[in-house]
Amino acid sequence: MFLLVTSLVLCELLQPAFLLILEKPASSLNVRFDARTMNLTWDCQENTTFSRCFLTDKKGRIVEPRVTNKQCSCTFREICLHGGVTFEVHVNTSQRAFQEKLLYPNSGREGTAAQNFSCFIYNVDFMNCTWVRGPTAPRDVQYFLYIQNSNVDRTSGVQGCILQRFNPPGNVTVRCNTTHCLVRWKQPRTYQKLSYLDFQYQLDVHRKINVSGDLENRYNFPSSEPRAKHAVKIRAADVRILNWSSWSEAAEFGSLGYRDCSRQSHRSKTN
Ligand SMILES: *[C@@H]1O[C@H](CO)[C@@H](O)[C@H](O)[C@H]1NC(C)=O
Ligand SMILES: *[C@@H]1O[C@H](CO)[C@@H](O)[C@H](O)[C@H]1NC(C)=O
Ligand SMILES: *[C@@H]1O[C@H](CO)[C@@H](O)[C@H](O)[C@H]1NC(C)=O
Ligand SMILES: *[C@@H]1O[C@H](CO)[C@@H](O)[C@H](O)[C@H]1NC(C)=O
Ligand SMILES: *[C@@H]1O[C@H](CO)[C@@H](O)[C@H](O)[C@H]1NC(C)=O
Ligand SMILES: *[C@@H]1O[C@H](CO)[C@@H](O)[C@H](O)[C@H]1NC(C)=O
Ligand SMILES: *[C@@H]1O[C@H](CO)[C@@H](O)[C@H](O)[C@H]1NC(C)=O
Ligand SMILES: *[C@@H]1O[C@H](CO)[C@@H](O)[C@H](O)[C@H]1NC(C)=O
Ligand SMILES: *[C@@H]1O[C@H](CO)[C@@H](O)[C@H](O)[C@H]1NC(C)=O
Repeated sequence: MFLLVTSLVLCELLQPAFLLILEKPASSLNVRFDARTMNLTWDCQENTTFSRCFLTDKKGRIVEPRVTNKQCSCTFREICLHGGVTFEVHVNTSQRAFQEKLLYPNSGREGTAAQNFSCFIYNVDFMNCTWVRGPTAPRDVQYFLYIQNSNVDRTSGVQGCILQRFNPPGNVTVRCNTTHCLVRWKQPRTYQKLSYLDFQYQLDVHRKINVSGDLENRYNFPSSEPRAKHAVKIRAADVRILNWSSWSEAAEFGSLGYRDCSRQSHRSKTN
């Protein structure tokens, strides 16, 4: 299974699936949010000249989907609602300006919401989510976990509550000429579409070397013949989290006999 997870909502069974509180009850935009579709909608206004919608999470991070003047809704992806968020909609018409907030606490009674919620994705397609019962929730409380799938890449969003530890880079090869060696590798397979800019690599050759993700993942270094036998291994991390994958298989180059100059390395197992 190839899971594409973009947002997670954890709600209590004993409570309505989600609970919305309007900050301004006499709101004329009538802003509302559907946690299942992650769709924030409001009443369309005539002669709209400007629309904006965004949310602010507990840590003050802002997520702002693009919205056109004709739209009266916006869809959030890649967000973690668990800690509670505040949605905000700004609409200007030729007549007046609206600004409305919608609090989304995602909780039942005080202290009943699940705590310490996090999800890990291992080996691309296995996800392990854990949380603990809220301190005042009954012992037999049941929580709902919604998992939303989407093909959207995540360049515009935040990491949310999903943490991912990458698989190690694949296909590590080394090619040497008389003066240099070139290491190349493949970007790890991930559960969502990521750009090379999302990756940071660390190479262990003679020492640890950091390399940013690139269209062609490669690292060229001077190494003159004769060269002794070496091994290079590589690990990967998300540039924003730097939680390193395990080391790749080692690719060997050079030789004890100092005769091996330009053949492609063969790979061997490590640890
Ligand atoms: C969001 O709601 C609007 C208005 O009801 C609708 O047009 C749009 O298709 C919805 N989008 C999603 C992803 O459900
Ligand atoms: C929208 O604009 C039209 C043309 O300017 C105007 O006649 C109409 O009254 C406006 N409607 C509202 C609700 O402001
Ligand atoms: C929307 O209206 C507010 C209040 O009148 C004004 O401050 C703001 O500049 C307007 N924004 C745009 C993009 O017209
Ligand atoms: C939840 O996480 C906080 C902060 O990491 C920790 O202090 C607390 O003990 C955790 N609670 C439980 C029940 O694990
Ligand atoms: C999921 O993670 C928890 C906490 O780290 C661990 O106790 C549990 O065994 C894991 N479950 C699986 C199926 O790996
Ligand atoms: C590794 O490289 C070989 C040769 O270039 C290629 O045939 C193979 O498909 C690659 N494997 C992966 C996982 O990219
Ligand atoms: C070896 O490779 C390096 C880097 O790619 C290159 O600059 C150099 O000219 C090459 N040397 C020979 C003898 O081909
Ligand atoms: C490589 O990156 C790691 C993680 O950011 C950092 O701890 C380390 O100092 C860096 N090493 C070098 C040589 O820049
Ligand atoms: C890094 O991943 C491990 C599990 O592989 C996890 O226990 C740890 O909390 C993660 N650290 C961060 C900062 O995400």
